[in-house]
Amino acid sequence: MEQSDWRNSVLTSPLMKIMADNLNRSASEMDPETSPLYRAVISHMDADRTAIDIGSGVGRFAIPLALAGVKVTAVEPSDEMRRHLLASIEKEGLSSSINVIPSLWPVQQDLHAEVSFASFVIQFSRDPIEFVRAMERSTSRRCVLSVHVDQPIGFLKDVWQAFRPSETAPTMLTFSDLYPMLMKEGIMADVTIIREDRPSRTMMDPDKMINLLADLLVIKDEPNEMQRLKKLLMAKKEAGLQQHSMRTAIISWQP
Ligand SMILES: C[S@@+](CC[C@H](N)C(=O)[O-])C[C@H]1O[C@@H](n2cnc3c(N)ncnc32)[C@H](O)[C@@H]1O
Repeated sequence: MEQSDWRNSVLTSPLMKIMADNLNRSASEMDPETSPLYRAVISHMDADRTAIDIGSGVGRFAIPLALAGVKVTAVEPSDEMRRHLLASIEKEGLSSSINVIPSLWPVQQDLHAEVSFASFVIQFSRDPIEFVRAMERSTSRRCVLSVHVDQPIGFLKDVWQAFRPSETAPTMLTFSDLYPMLMKEGIMADVTIIREDRPSRTMMDPDKMINLLADLLVIKDEPNEMQRLKKLLMAKKEAGLQQHSMRTAIISWQP
């Protein structure tokens, strides 16, 4: 299984639905004003109060920023995510503060803002350096990235070991991959590591994950294999629930 196959499937709707549910839950639990990413963005606002939210998802940050008077350009390629985002924009009466662009980053048009940020998005990019360079071209004051420090799909290693032992399990780009790439480009960014004391929400619900993984492993029509996968995911869930912390790096620099 190539890395690119995994990324191809990311924007398909089953996974987006799971992610959108998780993000909606997180948005309702989170107090945006205390979140380190929100604070990093707000603290670098200047007179224009403009931000580009790259891969805005359901609007976890775009909505509270717009409510705080920031003009937000939200770039979001997934129909599923945009459906939630547009519903919130309408509910909050923010259509004049948030401009939604239905596209992958980098976008075709010339965008400019004081701050650009991407929260848990760059790991889906095929070319992280071009992603970052496009952020710099669009930004006058600060570029901010949130990335995982701990591998969010580390549990796939055991799944692959069981079903595809000769192949390398898919992984997501994490902080330890990205930071050296930035340094090589001459970007010496500030970093804050945050530890959240909760199990990873990303993929640990076996009922939601099983069909997606069965598709990737091509075992949907094999009941014994499906049973084996289900068992393995249940065991992983138990282990995951005991593992209580996930770390996030907030990486930021002046372009
Ligand atoms: C894990 S979600 C994070 C959403 C949001 N930033 C947040 O933290 O709540 C990842 C989002 O990135 C979007 N995405 C994936 N690849 C992208 C790309 N190349 N450019 C822009 N958005 C992308 C997905 O559609 C999804 O909404």
